[in-house]
Amino acid sequence: MQIGQETMKRSVYCGEVGESHVGQSLCLMGWVKRRRNLGGMVFLDLRDRSGICQLVVNEKSPEAVHEAVRDVRSEYVLAVRGEVLRRSSPNPDLPTGDYELQVETLIVLSASETPPFVLEEADQVSDVLRLRYRFLDLRRERLSNIIQLRSAMLNRTVDFFATHGFLQIETPYLGKSTPEGARDYLVPSRVYPGSFFALPQSPQLYKQMLMMSGFDRYFQIARCFRDEDLRADRQPEFTQVDLEMSFVDEDDVMDIAESYTHFLFENFGTGMEAPKFPLQRLTYREAMENYGSDKPDLRFGMKLHKICGWALSVDFPVFKNCVEAGGCVYAICAKGMGQASRKQIDKMTDLVRLYHAKGLAWFAPGESERGSILKFLSDANKQELCELMGAESGDLILIVADSERTAQTALGQLRLKIADEQGLLDPNRCAACWVTDFPLFEYSEEEQRYVAQHHPFTMIADEDVDYLESDPGRCRSKAYDLVVNGQEMAGGSIRIHDRDFQYRVLKHLGFSEERAKANFDFLLRAFDYGVPPHGGCAFGLDRWVMFFARTNNIRDVIAFPKVQSSSCLMTGAPSRVSEHQLMELGLEVEAKPEGDAASEGAEE
Ligand code: AMO
Ligand code: AMP
Repeated sequence: MQIGQETMKRSVYCGEVGESHVGQSLCLMGWVKRRRNLGGMVFLDLRDRSGICQLVVNEKSPEAVHEAVRDVRSEYVLAVRGEVLRRSSPNPDLPTGDYELQVETLIVLSASETPPFVLEEADQVSDVLRLRYRFLDLRRERLSNIIQLRSAMLNRTVDFFATHGFLQIETPYLGKSTPEGARDYLVPSRVYPGSFFALPQSPQLYKQMLMMSGFDRYFQIARCFRDEDLRADRQPEFTQVDLEMSFVDEDDVMDIAESYTHFLFENFGTGMEAPKFPLQRLTYREAMENYGSDKPDLRFGMKLHKICGWALSVDFPVFKNCVEAGGCVYAICAKGMGQASRKQIDKMTDLVRLYHAKGLAWFAPGESERGSILKFLSDANKQELCELMGAESGDLILIVADSERTAQTALGQLRLKIADEQGLLDPNRCAACWVTDFPLFEYSEEEQRYVAQHHPFTMIADEDVDYLESDPGRCRSKAYDLVVNGQEMAGGSIRIHDRDFQYRVLKHLGFSEERAKANFDFLLRAFDYGVPPHGGCAFGLDRWVMFFARTNNIRDVIAFPKVQSSSCLMTGAPSRVSEHQLMELGLEVEAKPEGDAASEGAEE
């Protein structure tokens, strides 16, 4: 780079300065992290994406450098040249802390205003401010490292699938609405006013079409778009490592998914305990019965127990009536929580109510036994309960009587909450498992009909084919989810490859033949021309980066994330467009109050 009279070419990154450079003249470029003035000497910490190197301007530096450094403040961009010296007082906290660069040439490449927040104190400022100035936020070491980790994971992912014979094939972003379950993002067509493209919720149908096109091993790092309510582990646009294979069954897909998982751990799981391969498998039913969740956190025990038999032996109408009416009684045993205060138990009760349980009964055995249902329990009842639950003096048994699903879910959530409070959720541990044999359908109370649990292209379990019409609730699917520490990290299934069966399933989901054709005629048409048996899965890449970066916030792993209201605080998207643009698209927008995404975000 020619700057005035000087030719400056960066020799190394700031964070790379080391023993081999001592005595050499190096050129560094970066941002000023900090400036300290110590009686005639100026120390600058110069930062780039690799780290920091200390610069020193002292009596050996030319007068021009002293002059130039006078105006330099935080976030100025500099090019400097000088000799690398060993530091007289090393800084053990810094990888380059043994060295400093004695500045001989200093050029200000760009000045900076005073930043709206001190980068080192970013944890104390609001997310709104940080996200508005995301480019500053990303200069912070923590976020910069996460983005670099993500980059390495993406690169290695391509290597992995390429060496396993997968073709990398891109599929359209401007596509047709597919029924994945979330709301679509729509893009109006200018050429066909009133018609819309949908951004893909996933490349699901395209990858099936690729199997029909003969590309028997496909993968793609695919952006997916879902207009749904955001949570800590969700974004409206997120990235999948998506794959599909022909001539395979569940085990084949799960094998390659495990190999990839293993590969991720080998490369990125430093300091973590890797899971044991092959991974443990649980059926959906086992997961629900034992952990009250289809994404069980297996880092700790505290299993659910179904205690309907015991409940019937107790003279407590709530339990008896519940079981007799077809409900279930479930319980968990919180070890060592027998002394929980009323307030703690009230909080637990509030939590199970949130998941629609009608109440929470509790019993703490021991010499000073306590409990909300004490008066209903005979000595024999108490003893039997303790035996069933493996409970001892000092423990706390928590019981819910309700419909089976409600009792499971409420206690499953309570189990997690207690584990969190007891510090059982160690981020360095990794408990991974497959959950298999999901129900094919789920009954939607809201829509008063069956909906696909995974998606409408998922194959039914061989043993359940005959029950498709007569007892859809009992039909299981060939779907599988990879769960790590209670998070769904990947999901997939074997697909239907038979035309008539696909129609039968669609019909069941309320698609008339006409509507099915209107929605995915292309798929059904392809079913007429030779379909290989196929299946696949998709990894939630953002969640894997979160996992290896040990963060609970998905925004940390995305360079330019959206906030809760699905808007981008940095760019202000979504924003109004001009009348002219609307007119070209044949759209009319009802007048709305002033304000767009840029001026919002106050809720963050
Ligand atoms: P599914 O909908 O289960 O399957 O998605 C696959 C994986 O993607 C991740 N994920 C998300 N990550 C961040 N933000 C979101 N909003 C979000 N939604 C999902 C999860 C999930 O396990 N086409 C099928 C895959 C297949 O059948 O092959 C699909 O999209 O980690
Ligand atoms: P009550 O006799 O109504 O005071 O209830 C005694 C205890 O049973 C209280 O702790 C309630 O929270 C609990 N309880 C009520 N309904 C249920 C239920 N469906 N499942 C579990 N506990 C319940």
